[in-house]
Amino acid sequence: MVDKTKTGYIVGFAAAVCGVFGAVVSIAAVQLKPQQVENKVLDQQKQVLSVANLLPEGGGDKAAIKQLFDSNIKAEVIELHSGKPVDGVDVATFDQQKAKKDPASSAPAPTNNAKIQRLPKQAKVFQVMKDGKVDAIVLPIEGYGLWSTLYGFLALEADGTTIKGITYYEHGETPGLGGEVDNPLWKAKWPGRKAFDDQGKVAIAVAKGDFSDKAAHPYKVDALSGATITSNGVTNMLQFWLGEHGFGPYLAEYKKGHK
Ligand SMILES: Cc1cc2nc3c(=O)[nH]c(=O)nc-3n(C[C@H](O)[C@H](O)[C@H](O)COP(=O)(O)O)c2cc1C
Repeated sequence: MVDKTKTGYIVGFAAAVCGVFGAVVSIAAVQLKPQQVENKVLDQQKQVLSVANLLPEGGGDKAAIKQLFDSNIKAEVIELHSGKPVDGVDVATFDQQKAKKDPASSAPAPTNNAKIQRLPKQAKVFQVMKDGKVDAIVLPIEGYGLWSTLYGFLALEADGTTIKGITYYEHGETPGLGGEVDNPLWKAKWPGRKAFDDQGKVAIAVAKGDFSDKAAHPYKVDALSGATITSNGVTNMLQFWLGEHGFGPYLAEYKKGHK
């Protein structure tokens, strides 16, 4: 008869239980990994289609999103510093966030108002194709608001200047205040605005006031009410990502080829 009160038995039993459940969790984690990667890729594709105004109402199922993405979007990994495309990288699985965290593929960011700490050496951009030509460009953006880093995408028209849309897919701002970055009514204020002025300087900004007349105020978008800090965060991240340390070099390269 086993003495279940003995220390050896208790320790052995606890170790066996830990071993069995540890193995179950490890196997589940390994087996679910491909599914997680697939879901992440799918979610990114959905966001890109959404900001490019190509996502049908209701979103569509996995197969429909994949088909829509594959037939309309050309993803490209670029070197942030030069803006030039990088060969030999698997574009589909390239993860800019992962690259940013890896010291070998990132560097400290220069001091910036968007509170970006590290910059990946390479970044993933998306070109929306129509009749064999670039119809829009989608760029990943991120930066600090009040409580959190906001992650999103900015879409520019083929001229590389006119804004087509903006979207955020992850943030921790307060619902009803900074969280209104998700509000379709606020997002509708963006299309048609100009990211750069006539001298090519980043000019787009979120500011307090009534800028509903887009023709009169091409560079201004109404701030979120009661959420000036998040609004400033949006301005800061656009200033950064459209500037020389962000996608400025890429856009300059693109515009050269687009003339
Ligand atoms: C609980 C709480 C949550 C808040 N969340 C946000 C937020 O997500 N974004 C933001 O900019 N301001 C937020 N604020 C308000 C800021 O503290 C600040 O008052 C505001 O940004 C100033 O904007 P205003 O000049 O439009 O009033 C929050 C305030 C409180 C008390």
